[in-house]
Amino acid sequence: MCGIIGYTGNKSVVDILIDGLRQLEYRGYDSSGIAVKCDNDVKVYKAEGKLENLCNVLSNHKGEFETATCGIGHIRWATHGAPTVLNAHPHTCTCGHLAIVHNGIIENYKELREKLSSEGCTFRSQTDTEVVAHLVARKYAQTKNLTEAVRMAAKELEGAYALCVMHNDYKNTIVATKRNAPLLVGIGEGEFFAASDVPAIIKHTNRAMYLNDNEIVTLTPDKMTLINSDAMELAPKIEVLPWEPVALSKMGYKHFMLKEIHEQPDVIRNILVGKLHAPDEEIVLNEVKLTKETLRHLHRIQIIACGTSLHAAMVGKYLIENFCGIPVDVEASSEYIYRRTVTDKHTLVIGVSQSGETADTLTAIKQSKEKGSHILIITNRPDSAMARLADSLISVNAGIEVSVAATKSYIAQLMAFYLLALYMAEVKECVDLGMLTTLKTEMMLLPQKVERILANTDDIQKCARRYAATKDFIYIARGINYPTALEGALKLKEISYINATGYPAGELKHGPIAMLDETMPVLSILMNGCVYEKLLSNSEEAKARNARMIALTNSKDEKLNDLFDSIIRVPDVIELFSPVIAMVPLQLLAYYIAEFLGKDVDQPRNLAKSVTVE
Ligand code: G6P
Repeated sequence: MCGIIGYTGNKSVVDILIDGLRQLEYRGYDSSGIAVKCDNDVKVYKAEGKLENLCNVLSNHKGEFETATCGIGHIRWATHGAPTVLNAHPHTCTCGHLAIVHNGIIENYKELREKLSSEGCTFRSQTDTEVVAHLVARKYAQTKNLTEAVRMAAKELEGAYALCVMHNDYKNTIVATKRNAPLLVGIGEGEFFAASDVPAIIKHTNRAMYLNDNEIVTLTPDKMTLINSDAMELAPKIEVLPWEPVALSKMGYKHFMLKEIHEQPDVIRNILVGKLHAPDEEIVLNEVKLTKETLRHLHRIQIIACGTSLHAAMVGKYLIENFCGIPVDVEASSEYIYRRTVTDKHTLVIGVSQSGETADTLTAIKQSKEKGSHILIITNRPDSAMARLADSLISVNAGIEVSVAATKSYIAQLMAFYLLALYMAEVKECVDLGMLTTLKTEMMLLPQKVERILANTDDIQKCARRYAATKDFIYIARGINYPTALEGALKLKEISYINATGYPAGELKHGPIAMLDETMPVLSILMNGCVYEKLLSNSEEAKARNARMIALTNSKDEKLNDLFDSIIRVPDVIELFSPVIAMVPLQLLAYYIAEFLGKDVDQPRNLAKSVTVE
């Protein structure tokens, strides 16, 4: 949610800031801005909408900042105030000498705004951030020291923030601090970067320091000084980031989403490497740090996640309960954190998050950690805040996902749950060996089956064209594919803005059936297995109300041709693995519908890939 970047060094700052913001676009993209030190002035440039608009603004002012080598930048996902130029960051103090960029939410901004206004500060925006600019400026007036001003101001802020600040009185200095929002410092030769995330700096350096909450760092081209909130100097802990420069290329695909969908066979192979060698060998999951003895006697698991990760968690529940007989609760992180949750040191708490920084999940994990639960994190970002809280960490290794709608990270999360559930089943010795071998054989075949789906998408494209004009869409499924129905509907909503809802098919007759008529498409995820016949009956019920019926199926049953108007066929698969096989066509269906409608597939309106506000 919002991306920030800062730079001080010897290179042309504007190019570095814009390129950094481009890498952070997944965090928001409704407006953007930069502030740069030009001779004796801090100059601010902002634009509404996509980053391209800011580039256009800058191209009209080129002469002003050619020699500038210090600046800060921001890409916004609006929380307080509409995405307008006035609300875009950087924000400045009344006299314009101090500029600030912020990611997070200042919860006590109303009180601060009233107080600062009464003291004569002129507010120009509706944002929570602007109070920070004025507050730091007030402290600066007292101390004449920017670091000290930031330190004192931070003590009065409530909520979450990552901040970068610069001031006219300083030729090439940036001061940065954070609490409950990500910020790291990149260390180059005669230059420093501050950024919300690695992709913004990795082109320039792989040496970095992650800031801890309440620490304040002061950067000049040749020096970094780190202090804590009591102004005590700290020794920076510098790490070498395990990242290659990020190649953000679409590799010939029209959109990142399509490329990422096509990467899924390799994503499945990657996560299996080193963990599943052969069907008759045990799964190796050294990432799980619970002793085998503890695992054997585990009596409760809670899984916490948001959005797409929540749907992976629901499949995870099904798998763990099915294979291991351990009760599993799944809950949306945002619901978990504001009630009395019953968890203790005998409960395994699993957090699932592609980004590893979703605010609600992070808070939920912190809460359960305080209660003594063992924390297992499943994430695509082993360097994230959530990963750092983990007692056990399963890194899903899906590679960077650029498109805002999660696809390959979801499939990778599912694979992590297959591995975990089967590993636990092996430790508990609760599934027969022959069955385990069959399941592991099937798991190793999944990449090829996904490849087969990707090799022939004609039926999916035809279906997309046929149903693109619809206003509403219903997905039904049962059992292990109920989460697939939710995730399929979510994908469609996210990128096409069609009102799509997933239902457990048995619930159709308890309300949703009232909506059915000849305008409503109902997509039935009809995979061979224990609920096949039941789902078929539910589909008949929908057909009897004239709904436009679509089947996504691995059944060869000829009868389906009479019941369904459109059929998307997928390779046969053991029911327990069908969520992987069924999801890929649903991702493609959402993609082709959105593409057909001319939507902004990779950056859908109002969304962000990383949600760092509660
Ligand atoms: C945002 C993204 C979703 C994602 C959700 C949870 O809403 O747009 O794609 O599923 O956050 O994110 P996480 O990083 O925790 O999986």
